[in-house]
Amino acid sequence: MQREPDGGTRARTAAHYAALADHYDTNWTHSESFLSWMADEIVSVLGLGPADRLADVGSGTGLFARRIAASGQVALPVVCIDPSAAMLAQIPVGPELLPVEASAERLAGLDGALVPEPAGGPFDAILVKEAIHHVAPADRRRVLAGLADRLTHEGRLLVVMLPTRIDYPLFDAALSLFTALQPDPEAIARGMRDAGLEVSLTYHQTELRIPRERYLAMVADRYMSLLSEFDDPTLAAGVDEIVAAHPEDVYAFPDRFAFVLGTRTEQRPRFSSPSAPHSPPRSPSCSAPASAGSSPARCVPTSKPASGGATTSPGDAGRSERCEETG
Ligand SMILES: C[S@@+](CC[C@H](N)C(=O)[O-])C[C@H]1O[C@@H](n2cnc3c(N)ncnc32)[C@H](O)[C@@H]1O
Repeated sequence: MQREPDGGTRARTAAHYAALADHYDTNWTHSESFLSWMADEIVSVLGLGPADRLADVGSGTGLFARRIAASGQVALPVVCIDPSAAMLAQIPVGPELLPVEASAERLAGLDGALVPEPAGGPFDAILVKEAIHHVAPADRRRVLAGLADRLTHEGRLLVVMLPTRIDYPLFDAALSLFTALQPDPEAIARGMRDAGLEVSLTYHQTELRIPRERYLAMVADRYMSLLSEFDDPTLAAGVDEIVAAHPEDVYAFPDRFAFVLGTRTEQRPRFSSPSAPHSPPRSPSCSAPASAGSSPARCVPTSKPASGGATTSPGDAGRSERCEETG
Protein backbone atom coordinates (compact mmCIF):
# COMPACT_ATOMS: atom_id res chain seq x y z
CA MET A 1 0.00 0.00 0.00
CA GLN A 2 1.27 3.50 -0.83
CA ARG A 3 2.06 5.75 2.09
CA GLU A 4 0.05 8.96 2.36
CA PRO A 5 2.43 11.04 4.48
CA ASP A 6 1.02 14.29 3.26
CA GLY A 7 -2.64 14.43 4.13
CA GLY A 8 -3.81 13.19 0.74
CA THR A 9 -1.58 15.29 -1.50
CA ARG A 10 -0.62 12.20 -3.46
CA ALA A 11 -4.23 11.29 -4.07
CA ARG A 12 -4.99 14.85 -5.26
CA THR A 13 -1.97 14.78 -7.56
CA ALA A 14 -3.09 11.44 -8.99
CA ALA A 15 -6.61 12.80 -9.58
CA HIS A 16 -5.18 15.92 -11.26
CA TYR A 17 -3.15 13.92 -13.77
CA ALA A 18 -5.91 11.36 -14.34
CA ALA A 19 -8.17 14.25 -15.39
CA LEU A 20 -5.51 15.97 -17.51
CA ALA A 21 -3.84 12.96 -19.14
CA ASP A 22 -5.75 12.65 -22.41
CA HIS A 23 -5.19 16.30 -23.35
CA TYR A 24 -1.88 16.98 -21.56
CA ASP A 25 0.05 16.88 -24.82
CA THR A 26 -2.42 19.14 -26.62
CA ASN A 27 -1.47 21.95 -24.27
CA TRP A 28 2.13 21.76 -25.48
CA THR A 29 2.33 20.24 -28.93
CA HIS A 30 1.38 23.58 -30.51
CA SER A 31 4.86 24.68 -29.47
CA GLU A 32 7.06 22.13 -31.19
CA SER A 33 10.05 24.46 -31.02
CA PHE A 34 9.72 24.64 -27.22
CA LEU A 35 9.63 20.85 -26.99
CA SER A 36 12.69 20.43 -29.20
CA TRP A 37 14.54 23.21 -27.38
CA MET A 38 13.93 21.54 -24.03
CA ALA A 39 14.81 18.05 -25.31
CA ASP A 40 18.05 19.40 -26.82
CA GLU A 41 18.98 21.17 -23.57
CA ILE A 42 18.39 17.95 -21.61
CA VAL A 43 20.50 15.85 -24.02
CA SER A 44 23.26 18.44 -23.88
CA VAL A 45 23.35 18.96 -20.10
CA LEU A 46 23.15 15.21 -19.41
CA GLY A 47 25.91 14.69 -21.98
CA LEU A 48 23.98 11.74 -23.38
CA GLY A 49 25.55 9.31 -25.82
CA PRO A 50 24.09 6.40 -27.82
CA ALA A 51 25.07 3.79 -25.19
CA ASP A 52 23.53 5.61 -22.21
CA ARG A 53 20.62 3.98 -20.41
CA LEU A 54 18.17 6.69 -19.40
CA ALA A 55 15.27 6.71 -16.96
CA ASP A 56 12.79 9.57 -17.18
CA VAL A 57 11.24 9.73 -13.71
CA GLY A 58 7.90 11.53 -13.65
CA SER A 59 7.90 11.09 -17.42
CA GLY A 60 4.20 11.75 -17.76
CA THR A 61 3.14 11.11 -21.34
CA GLY A 62 6.74 10.86 -22.52
CA LEU A 63 6.54 14.25 -24.19
CA PHE A 64 10.29 14.74 -23.82
CA ALA A 65 11.39 11.10 -23.55
CA ARG A 66 10.12 10.39 -27.05
CA ARG A 67 12.08 13.32 -28.48
CA ILE A 68 15.22 12.28 -26.59
CA ALA A 69 14.75 8.69 -27.83
CA ALA A 70 14.43 10.01 -31.39
CA SER A 71 17.67 11.98 -31.05
CA GLY A 72 19.71 8.77 -31.24
CA GLN A 73 21.69 10.02 -28.25
CA VAL A 74 20.53 7.31 -25.87
CA ALA A 75 20.19 3.54 -25.64
CA LEU A 76 16.68 2.23 -26.21
CA PRO A 77 14.29 1.85 -24.59
CA VAL A 78 14.13 4.97 -22.46
CA VAL A 79 12.50 3.83 -19.21
CA CYS A 80 9.52 6.10 -18.46
CA ILE A 81 8.63 5.90 -14.77
CA ASP A 82 5.48 7.59 -13.50
CA PRO A 83 2.86 6.75 -10.85
CA SER A 84 0.00 7.90 -13.09
CA ALA A 85 -1.35 5.04 -15.21
CA ALA A 86 -3.42 7.58 -17.14
CA MET A 87 -0.35 9.62 -18.10
CA LEU A 88 1.64 6.49 -19.04
CA ALA A 89 -1.26 5.30 -21.19
CA GLN A 90 -0.56 8.25 -23.54
CA ILE A 91 2.96 7.00 -24.29
CA PRO A 92 3.18 5.70 -27.86
CA VAL A 93 3.54 1.92 -27.96
CA GLY A 94 6.87 0.86 -29.45
CA PRO A 95 10.39 -0.27 -28.72
CA GLU A 96 11.67 3.24 -27.95
CA LEU A 97 9.91 3.82 -24.62
CA LEU A 98 9.26 1.44 -21.73
CA PRO A 99 6.45 2.69 -19.45
CA VAL A 100 6.75 1.69 -15.80
CA GLU A 101 4.06 2.57 -13.27
CA ALA A 102 6.00 3.64 -10.18
CA SER A 103 6.90 6.75 -8.24
CA ALA A 104 10.27 8.42 -7.72
CA GLU A 105 9.99 7.27 -4.11
CA ARG A 106 9.65 3.67 -5.20
CA LEU A 107 12.60 3.80 -7.60
CA ALA A 108 14.56 5.40 -4.76
CA GLY A 109 13.65 2.52 -2.45
CA LEU A 110 11.37 4.44 -0.07
CA ASP A 111 8.11 2.75 -1.01
CA GLY A 112 8.73 -0.95 -0.64
CA ALA A 113 10.44 -3.13 -3.17
CA LEU A 114 12.51 -1.55 -5.88
CA VAL A 115 11.26 -1.75 -9.42
CA PRO A 116 13.09 -4.82 -10.78
CA GLU A 117 15.64 -4.56 -13.57
CA PRO A 118 15.75 -3.29 -16.23
CA ALA A 119 13.28 -0.72 -14.94
CA GLY A 120 15.15 -0.42 -11.64
CA GLY A 121 18.47 0.42 -13.25
CA PRO A 122 21.30 0.98 -12.83
CA PHE A 123 21.10 3.93 -15.20
CA ASP A 124 23.74 6.09 -16.83
CA ALA A 125 21.34 8.99 -16.60
CA ILE A 126 18.20 9.77 -14.66
CA LEU A 127 16.00 12.72 -15.60
CA VAL A 128 13.38 14.19 -13.26
CA LYS A 129 11.65 16.98 -15.18
CA GLU A 130 9.02 19.06 -13.42
CA ALA A 131 8.16 16.26 -11.03
CA ILE A 132 10.39 16.78 -7.97
CA HIS A 133 7.77 19.12 -6.45
CA HIS A 134 5.43 16.13 -6.27
CA VAL A 135 7.76 14.37 -3.82
CA ALA A 136 6.82 15.36 -0.27
CA PRO A 137 9.32 17.87 1.19
CA ALA A 138 10.19 15.49 4.03
CA ASP A 139 11.13 12.77 1.51
CA ARG A 140 13.04 14.80 -1.06
CA ARG A 141 16.56 14.35 0.29
CA ARG A 142 16.11 10.60 0.71
CA VAL A 143 14.61 10.33 -2.77
CA LEU A 144 17.58 12.19 -4.27
CA ALA A 145 19.97 9.90 -2.37
CA GLY A 146 18.01 6.82 -3.49
CA LEU A 147 18.04 7.95 -7.12
CA ALA A 148 21.78 8.64 -6.86
CA ASP A 149 22.15 5.01 -5.76
CA ARG A 150 20.51 3.89 -9.00
CA LEU A 151 23.29 5.52 -11.07
CA THR A 152 26.24 3.79 -12.67
CA HIS A 153 29.76 5.05 -12.01
CA GLU A 154 29.86 8.54 -13.55
CA GLY A 155 26.09 8.38 -13.96
CA ARG A 156 24.18 11.68 -13.98
CA LEU A 157 21.01 12.76 -12.23
CA LEU A 158 19.33 15.82 -13.75
CA VAL A 159 16.46 17.61 -12.04
CA VAL A 160 14.78 20.15 -14.33
CA MET A 161 12.47 22.46 -12.44
CA LEU A 162 11.00 25.91 -12.38
CA PRO A 163 12.55 28.44 -10.02
CA THR A 164 10.49 29.62 -7.06
CA ARG A 165 9.38 32.75 -8.94
CA ILE A 166 7.88 32.61 -12.42
CA ASP A 167 6.89 35.39 -14.78
CA TYR A 168 3.86 33.63 -16.22
CA PRO A 169 0.74 35.72 -16.95
CA LEU A 170 -1.18 34.07 -14.10
CA PHE A 171 -3.38 35.66 -11.46
CA ASP A 172 -1.75 36.90 -8.27
CA ALA A 173 -3.04 34.19 -5.94
CA ALA A 174 -1.66 31.50 -8.26
CA LEU A 175 1.74 33.17 -8.50
CA SER A 176 1.94 33.54 -4.71
CA LEU A 177 0.90 29.95 -4.10
CA PHE A 178 3.45 28.78 -6.65
CA THR A 179 6.23 30.58 -4.80
CA ALA A 180 5.05 29.11 -1.50
CA LEU A 181 4.97 25.53 -2.78
CA GLN A 182 7.81 25.30 -5.27
CA PRO A 183 11.02 23.76 -3.93
CA ASP A 184 14.15 25.89 -4.19
CA PRO A 185 16.63 24.58 -6.79
CA GLU A 186 19.43 25.42 -4.34
CA ALA A 187 17.89 23.00 -1.85
CA ILE A 188 17.75 20.29 -4.51
CA ALA A 189 21.41 20.99 -5.30
CA ARG A 190 22.27 20.63 -1.59
CA GLY A 191 20.34 17.37 -1.41
CA MET A 192 22.31 16.00 -4.34
CA ARG A 193 25.60 17.10 -2.81
CA ASP A 194 24.64 15.41 0.43
CA ALA A 195 24.04 12.27 -1.61
CA GLY A 196 27.70 12.49 -2.65
CA LEU A 197 27.17 13.81 -6.18
CA GLU A 198 29.17 16.60 -7.79
CA VAL A 199 26.62 19.26 -8.55
CA SER A 200 26.15 22.14 -10.94
CA LEU A 201 23.18 24.47 -11.17
CA THR A 202 22.48 26.32 -14.40
CA TYR A 203 19.48 28.28 -15.64
CA HIS A 204 18.10 27.89 -19.13
CA GLN A 205 15.58 30.30 -20.52
CA THR A 206 13.44 30.61 -23.58
CA GLU A 207 10.49 32.80 -24.50
CA LEU A 208 7.02 31.40 -24.95
CA ARG A 209 4.53 33.07 -27.26
CA ILE A 210 1.02 31.76 -26.81
CA PRO A 211 -2.16 33.30 -28.23
CA ARG A 212 -4.29 34.71 -25.40
CA GLU A 213 -7.31 32.47 -25.98
CA ARG A 214 -5.18 29.36 -26.02
CA TYR A 215 -3.37 30.36 -22.84
CA LEU A 216 -6.61 31.19 -21.05
CA ALA A 217 -7.98 27.79 -22.10
CA MET A 218 -4.85 26.14 -20.68
CA VAL A 219 -5.36 27.95 -17.37
CA ALA A 220 -9.05 27.02 -17.29
CA ASP A 221 -7.95 23.44 -18.01
CA ARG A 222 -5.61 23.64 -14.98
CA TYR A 223 -2.58 22.89 -17.13
CA MET A 224 -0.35 23.30 -14.07
CA SER A 225 -1.07 21.06 -11.08
CA LEU A 226 -0.92 24.21 -8.95
CA LEU A 227 -4.19 25.35 -10.53
CA SER A 228 -5.95 22.31 -9.09
CA GLU A 229 -5.59 24.02 -5.70
CA PHE A 230 -8.29 26.52 -6.78
CA ASP A 231 -11.99 25.75 -6.99
CA ASP A 232 -13.98 26.58 -10.14
CA PRO A 233 -15.28 30.05 -9.09
CA THR A 234 -11.82 31.14 -7.89
CA LEU A 235 -10.24 29.91 -11.09
CA ALA A 236 -12.86 31.72 -13.21
CA ALA A 237 -12.18 34.93 -11.28
CA GLY A 238 -8.48 34.32 -11.81
CA VAL A 239 -8.99 34.06 -15.57
CA ASP A 240 -10.87 37.39 -15.49
CA GLU A 241 -7.96 38.91 -13.57
CA ILE A 242 -5.53 37.69 -16.23
CA VAL A 243 -7.65 39.16 -19.05
CA ALA A 244 -7.84 42.52 -17.29
CA ALA A 245 -4.10 42.63 -16.69
CA HIS A 246 -3.14 41.27 -20.14
CA PRO A 247 -5.33 42.56 -22.97
CA GLU A 248 -2.72 41.71 -25.62
CA ASP A 249 -3.54 39.08 -28.27
CA VAL A 250 -0.40 37.05 -27.78
CA TYR A 251 1.18 36.41 -24.42
CA ALA A 252 4.98 36.49 -24.64
CA PHE A 253 6.78 35.59 -21.45
CA PRO A 254 10.03 34.04 -20.29
CA ASP A 255 10.11 30.39 -19.32
CA ARG A 256 13.13 29.87 -17.11
CA PHE A 257 14.23 26.48 -15.84
CA ALA A 258 16.79 25.41 -13.25
CA PHE A 259 18.86 22.44 -14.37
CA VAL A 260 20.36 20.78 -11.30
CA LEU A 261 22.90 18.22 -12.45
CA GLY A 262 24.53 15.73 -10.12
CA THR A 263 27.32 13.45 -11.29
CA ARG A 264 28.36 10.34 -9.46
CA THR A 265 32.10 10.14 -8.95
CA GLU A 266 34.45 7.38 -7.92
CA GLN A 267 34.90 8.90 -4.47
CA ARG A 268 31.19 8.80 -3.76
CA PRO A 269 30.28 6.54 -0.83
CA ARG A 270 27.51 4.06 -1.67
CA PHE A 271 25.26 5.30 1.12
CA SER A 272 26.25 8.87 1.82
CA SER A 273 25.41 10.82 4.93
CA PRO A 274 24.35 14.48 4.92
CA SER A 275 27.74 15.35 6.43
CA ALA A 276 29.71 13.57 3.70
CA PRO A 277 32.45 15.82 2.30
CA HIS A 278 32.23 16.93 -1.29
CA SER A 279 34.43 18.78 -3.68
CA PRO A 280 33.26 22.08 -5.20
CA PRO A 281 30.96 21.26 -8.11
CA ARG A 282 31.65 22.72 -11.50
CA SER A 283 29.15 23.54 -14.12
CA PRO A 284 29.50 21.52 -17.34
CA SER A 285 29.04 24.69 -19.34
CA CYS A 286 31.01 27.21 -17.30
CA SER A 287 34.01 27.25 -15.02
CA ALA A 288 32.29 28.92 -12.09
CA PRO A 289 31.51 26.69 -9.11
CA ALA A 290 27.79 26.43 -8.38
CA SER A 291 27.13 28.50 -5.30
CA ALA A 292 25.22 27.47 -2.24
CA GLY A 293 23.96 31.01 -1.78
CA SER A 294 21.80 33.28 -3.87
CA SER A 295 24.38 34.42 -6.36
CA PRO A 296 23.26 36.31 -9.44
CA ALA A 297 22.89 34.41 -12.66
CA ARG A 298 24.50 35.50 -15.89
CA CYS A 299 22.33 35.00 -18.98
CA VAL A 300 23.88 34.45 -22.36
CA PRO A 301 22.03 33.78 -25.60
CA THR A 302 22.53 30.22 -26.81
CA SER A 303 24.18 29.81 -30.18
CA LYS A 304 21.16 27.85 -31.40
CA PRO A 305 17.87 29.68 -30.88
CA ALA A 306 14.94 27.47 -29.99
CA SER A 307 13.21 27.90 -33.30
CA GLY A 308 16.31 28.36 -35.40
CA GLY A 309 15.84 32.11 -35.40
CA ALA A 310 13.41 34.79 -34.36
CA THR A 311 9.98 33.53 -33.45
CA THR A 312 7.30 34.19 -35.96
CA SER A 313 4.53 31.77 -35.14
CA PRO A 314 2.47 32.14 -31.97
CA GLY A 315 3.17 29.48 -29.41
CA ASP A 316 6.74 28.98 -30.53
CA ALA A 317 9.57 29.22 -28.12
CA GLY A 318 11.52 32.29 -29.10
CA ARG A 319 14.86 33.66 -27.91
CA SER A 320 16.77 31.27 -25.71
CA GLU A 321 19.38 31.85 -23.09
CA ARG A 322 21.52 29.80 -20.82
CA CYS A 323 21.98 31.42 -17.42
CA GLU A 324 24.89 30.22 -15.37
CA GLU A 325 25.48 30.72 -11.69
CA THR A 326 28.37 33.14 -11.41
CA GLY A 327 29.33 32.13 -7.92
C1 LIG B 1 4.19 18.28 -14.73
S1 LIG B 1 4.13 16.57 -15.11
C2 LIG B 1 5.67 16.44 -15.98
C3 LIG B 1 5.68 15.32 -16.96
C4 LIG B 1 6.91 15.29 -17.86
N1 LIG B 1 8.13 15.16 -17.10
C5 LIG B 1 6.94 16.55 -18.69
O1 LIG B 1 7.78 17.41 -18.45
O2 LIG B 1 6.09 16.65 -19.60
C6 LIG B 1 4.48 15.80 -13.56
C7 LIG B 1 4.48 14.27 -13.62
O3 LIG B 1 4.98 13.80 -12.37
C8 LIG B 1 4.26 12.66 -12.02
N2 LIG B 1 4.37 12.42 -10.58
C9 LIG B 1 3.52 12.77 -9.60
N3 LIG B 1 3.98 12.33 -8.41
C10 LIG B 1 5.16 11.70 -8.65
C11 LIG B 1 6.09 11.00 -7.85
N4 LIG B 1 5.91 10.90 -6.53
N5 LIG B 1 7.15 10.43 -8.44
C12 LIG B 1 7.33 10.55 -9.78
N6 LIG B 1 6.48 11.21 -10.60
C13 LIG B 1 5.41 11.77 -10.05
C14 LIG B 1 2.84 12.96 -12.48
O4 LIG B 1 2.06 11.79 -12.59
C15 LIG B 1 3.11 13.67 -13.79
O5 LIG B 1 3.11 12.76 -14.87
